[in-house]
This record gives sequence, structure tokens and C-alpha cells, in this order.
Amino acid sequence: MEAEAQPLIQALGLKEDAPPKIVGPAPCVTFSGEHDGLKVHVVWNGKDRDTGVDNVGTVPASLSTYLAVMAFKPDVVISAGTAGGFKAQGAAIGDVFLGTAVINHDRRIPLPNFDKYGIGYSLCLATPGLQEALSLKQGVVSSGNSLDYTDKCMEIMAQHSVAVKEMEAAAIAWACNLYHVPLMCVKAVTDIVDGDRPTSEEFLENLHAAAAALQGTLPRVLSRLAGRKMSEL
Ligand code: ADE
Repeated sequence: MEAEAQPLIQALGLKEDAPPKIVGPAPCVTFSGEHDGLKVHVVWNGKDRDTGVDNVGTVPASLSTYLAVMAFKPDVVISAGTAGGFKAQGAAIGDVFLGTAVINHDRRIPLPNFDKYGIGYSLCLATPGLQEALSLKQGVVSSGNSLDYTDKCMEIMAQHSVAVKEMEAAAIAWACNLYHVPLMCVKAVTDIVDGDRPTSEEFLENLHAAAAALQGTLPRVLSRLAGRKMSEL
């Protein structure tokens, strides 16, 4: 969402790419610049033409990732944004989590092999040194196209010990895997999924604080990537 991307764009002093690096009708908007000698591109999924709200969820995420990987040929993709956290996995509002793996919790296809495809388990880039240096919590990220969840979604997330629930990472992983580009996930917690408050209320209340936490963490993540090989992360 724009509210998640803007603080980071400002903090890193990125500029919107003009002329666009990804042309319409794809709705995504890209911003580029440098940080600690790294070329950095932020890709925001843009707005929905009909409703005017931000594009969210897996469909825009996979399209943007596919096009951005073609346009920028990155060494690594970071799925950055907000998420609901599970207190059962140690999450609290404002925490920033590193993803260890991603799954989908809303693709239930009880047919041979399609069940595994539906879950779409995919490992994130292992970054143990970074995780320790930045004292970040870590865990499995689960994606689905709803802010809420069904009992079955919860069952799947419990089976995979999911720490944070959001709406894009697994789709981004799918597009990254087509190109064999490693994925990191950095997710700031806006709401507690296994808590007692309505998600939408808690999400709106904490969105800006979580975006600020992201903006505080992401430049440090980038600094840690600068000058290191993948195997040194
Ligand atoms: N983004 C922030 N909180 C979320 C939640 N609980 N579910 C999905 N996406 C989210």
C-alpha cells in the first residue's frame, strides 16, 4: 500500500522513475535510488482504476514482481509491508519480522499434488547474520486474499506455525521462483491475528506506526546487504 511504501521512499530519497520503467496498463509505480552503494527500487502496486483504492493481494503482487524482475534484474527481492502477527509465535504490535518461508493459507485444493501446489511452500533467503545483527524476530509468512480468515485458514496456518499473515508474499515468491531470484520478507505487525480485537480496527490504528517501524528497519537491512555475498548474510 502507498502508506507502507511512502515513508521508505522518503527515508531513502528515492525518485519516481520517469519515464516509467514499467509501462501501463500495468498499474505499478516504481521509485529508484541508491543506499550504501546498492541500487534500490521500490515497487508499489498502484491504485485500482474502478475504486481508487490501493491494489492489494496476490494478483497485483505477482504481476508487479514479474514485471519488476524483468525491468530491474535484481539480485534479491524484498517483500516489505505490514502483516498480522500471531502472539502464539511471539508477535507483538510494531514488531518487525523476517520471513523464513512463505505459504498460502487460502488455496485449498484437495486433489493429488494440487494440495501441495495450493500451499505453495517456498523458502526465503537464509539471512542468519542479518537477523541476529538487527535483532529481528523471524517466522513463516502466510498469504491470502482476505484481511480476515476462515477456520480452515487458521488450521493451515497453525499446521505451518505461521508467525505473520499478510496478502502478498507467497505471490511474490512465485514470481521470484520463475526467475530464480531469492526473496526476503520484512513484515511489520499492525494487528494480532490470534488476539481479541477486530483486525480492521487494529490494522487502521497501527498502520502508520508499523510503516514507521518498517522505514526504521529496511535501511538497516539494505546496509547489511551492501558489499556482502548471499552466503555471508
Ligand atoms: N496486513 C496487516 N494485517 C493483516 C492481516 N491480519 N491479514 C492480512 N493482511 C494484513
